[in-house]
Amino acid sequence: MTQQTINLTRGVPPVTVFPIDDLIQCNEAALRQDPYVLLQYGRSPGYAPLREWLGEQHRVGADQILIGNSSLEILAFVTQTQLKPGTRAFVESPSYDRAITLIRRAGAEVVGIPMQEDGLDLEILQDELKKGVPALIYLIADFQNPMGVTTSLEKRKKLAALAEEYGFWIIEDAPYRELRYWGNPVPTLRSLSPTRVLQMSSFSKVLSPGLRLGYVIGPADMIATLARWAVDSYIGPVLPTQGMVYEYCRRGLLSANIEQLKKLYSPRLQTTLSTLEKHLPQASWSKPEGGFFVGVTLPEGSDMESLRARAGEAGLKLSDGRGFFPDPANGNRFLRIPFSSLTPQEIKEAITRLAQLL
Ligand SMILES: Cc1ncc(COP(=O)(O)O)c(C=O)c1O
Repeated sequence: MTQQTINLTRGVPPVTVFPIDDLIQCNEAALRQDPYVLLQYGRSPGYAPLREWLGEQHRVGADQILIGNSSLEILAFVTQTQLKPGTRAFVESPSYDRAITLIRRAGAEVVGIPMQEDGLDLEILQDELKKGVPALIYLIADFQNPMGVTTSLEKRKKLAALAEEYGFWIIEDAPYRELRYWGNPVPTLRSLSPTRVLQMSSFSKVLSPGLRLGYVIGPADMIATLARWAVDSYIGPVLPTQGMVYEYCRRGLLSANIEQLKKLYSPRLQTTLSTLEKHLPQASWSKPEGGFFVGVTLPEGSDMESLRARAGEAGLKLSDGRGFFPDPANGNRFLRIPFSSLTPQEIKEAITRLAQLL
């Protein structure tokens, strides 16, 4: 009998979590309540009621919020407006692969700063600052993609102080922040330096990625700059989706949905950590308290190329760890486990198969 392949490549929510009936109802209600706004060209910073709702949630004025068709597209606006050939941009190493691609597309030099258990290696960062101040640092401070690491408060304070001293932007990408399964939240970088931090987030991980709905919070003049860029890119982001999501939020359904997600994902993370402990003691891994990922450093002597080829035969589909590193050679032993989309049974089976391969 052939065994079912287990896919460890996709950092996505399982389709079973989408609140389909609620979204259908909210979509209809929104279109009936505000059809002439939602079906007409809109303003580039986004649907006003949703901007206001987000502003209240994050305790900022609506003029400090820009909504876009996905946080990834907003990141493209940031890189297109803030970077040019020759500028430097720092990223965590490893980091979200598409963010690295967008920064490179803007022509900037990507400098990878190694990650530790509590965030960036600040000594190396300070050495790099002496070689040349970047236009921005892109980081994922909560439950990082791909490592699962959360940046400590101490490091956040230091980063905020450095951003103010040297005058670079911190792009704090925070799509997993609300998905904390245990432990205490750490203050956002934006709360530590409201003038130097752009905080990005999205409805992809807390509601549905297909909505393509993201937003950024920052100083009003920076939001205005991004809004001017956005208007020439697409006039305004898709409105009916924003209307539907605003209605969903207005009804108070989002926080209940997040609680449901936490109940589903928390045992998946626990299973991942305990199965790694049991079957892969020779490897090392992060100890996340939330999010979608656990980052594993495979034992000395492991090699991504041969591992992936053999994994296919053993019924495992693995991401190439090298893709997350600005210098791919550093990722030859790195494996991202996206536990969110797998059942505890699949997680146990996948790690057992992996241990046999190693
Ligand atoms: C760190 C990070 N930022 C952004 C995104 C993409 O978010 P969106 O769906 O809003 O484009 C992802 C998706 O995996 C991610 O992990």
